Amino acid sequence: MRVLSIASEVFPLIKTGGLADVAGALPFALTDHGCEVTTMLPGYPVVMRALDRAKVTIETHRLDRVLGANAQILSCTLDSLRLFVLDMPDLYDRLGGPYTDAEGHDYADNWMRFAALAKAGAMVAQGAVAGFEPEIVHAHDWQAALTPVYLAASNRPRPKTVLTIHNLAFQGNYPAAIFPQLELPAASWSIEGVEYYGNVGFLKGGLHACDVVTTVSPTYAKEIVTDGGGMGLDGLLLGRGTRLVGIVNGIDTTIWDPKTDREIAAPYSATALKPRTHNKRALEGEFGLRREDGPIFAVVSRLTWQKGLDLVAGLCDEIVARGIRLVVVGTGEGIIEGAFQAAHARHPDRIGVRIGYDEPLSHRVQAGADAIVIPSRFEPCGLTQLYGLRYGCLPIVTQVGGLADTVVDANYAAVSAGAATGVIFSPPQRSALLAAIDRTLDLYSDVGLWRKMQTAAMKADVSWAKSARLYAKLYRDLTEE
Ligand code: ADP
Ligand code: GLC
Repeated sequence: MRVLSIASEVFPLIKTGGLADVAGALPFALTDHGCEVTTMLPGYPVVMRALDRAKVTIETHRLDRVLGANAQILSCTLDSLRLFVLDMPDLYDRLGGPYTDAEGHDYADNWMRFAALAKAGAMVAQGAVAGFEPEIVHAHDWQAALTPVYLAASNRPRPKTVLTIHNLAFQGNYPAAIFPQLELPAASWSIEGVEYYGNVGFLKGGLHACDVVTTVSPTYAKEIVTDGGGMGLDGLLLGRGTRLVGIVNGIDTTIWDPKTDREIAAPYSATALKPRTHNKRALEGEFGLRREDGPIFAVVSRLTWQKGLDLVAGLCDEIVARGIRLVVVGTGEGIIEGAFQAAHARHPDRIGVRIGYDEPLSHRVQAGADAIVIPSRFEPCGLTQLYGLRYGCLPIVTQVGGLADTVVDANYAAVSAGAATGVIFSPPQRSALLAAIDRTLDLYSDVGLWRKMQTAAMKADVSWAKSARLYAKLYRDLTEE
């Protein structure tokens, strides 16, 4: 089965968060289920440079004008990933990131940049690249959400469409004035189309128009049909009934494998955990932490309100007072960054902080720290707890979304059954987090129990195997309708 996947970021080419990991890994997992996935993404400078460097054959396909501009698709296979790169330099050849300029401000024409991606995606879905006829289009997040809208509005045959919500907090809402430039029929300006409280809603339109909505965990699928969790879209999502499905993310277990990870000082496994100590020592060295017996807790994250990291930042003194050392790797809201930096200044050899994005370092942290703290206020899936499980860096998480679906809390029954893999707490508040930290310290002080939990965590199936099967079945069921 041929699938066209459309995403605004794809690991390892371009990544700001978990979406890239998913868009980069799922195609490989689907191969085992008879799916041939080609991934379409914008031709950002880093992507174009990667194409230049890789000595691969690139085919060029000219598209008819996309939202009034010239465009072409560069088709190639890079490290086994089939790609359609949308080459539109006016839109994508910019300094800065995929969504923001070098100063961190959203590009003013993001609506145009991602409407073009979606429109070009719809054109490719309907045969614009000779010889490529997908049976399924799988669009990710608001940046690709107009693809199902363009396809539903067309009167030519179209493939079935799946739209995955990775994060409902980002909806792509823009003033009504842009509507005429989207080249959609007038009828799309309606409650069944893209109109959303008088604005244009990219995600909203896609959620209506697609054949199936998926999101990245079963619990998040339940949360988003509620008043609190739906962020304004709960009514629409509830209305989609069984056409809204939650499928938990997996991870690429070849990239994230402590047995073979080249970023880490000493490889280890569930059955040979001892060398893990070297990684802890190395982490202490890298962050200039005092060498002592207690645990190291870690944060690897966007430093935002969603992630609840203001709570951790506010507890740094309590954490240190308990003999815990903390390493933080992340970027985000200035106030949270500042709070961690101030905590580092107060406790330079107990709290290590790296403000920035550092993929290799994130591996070394998972391999060397004892626990990873993820106190999210909401979390569609979350990947860092999955990396933590895989690396025996036990997750301390809130009971929300995919965190609740993937971590087994160390309650009495789970510990007795040898099934516990982490600590779950609720609600995402200071006192509950502190209680969870104390509970983790208790577990950590029982060396045998902690080892057992690490082993259970490292043996947990966090691969794409089960979920890829579910996506493949979903695709098949759709094509048979
Ligand atoms: P989200 O996509 O909401 O940010 P996820 O947990 O799904 O959250 O994915 C985040 C991804 O980004 C993970 O792969 C995580 O390791 C990575 N990540 C986040 N911040 C950093 C950072 N500062 N340096 C390196 N990797 C990071
Ligand atoms: C989003 C969510 C995160 C999820 C990721 C990949 O960024 O915030 O929870 O893991 O997408 O689906």
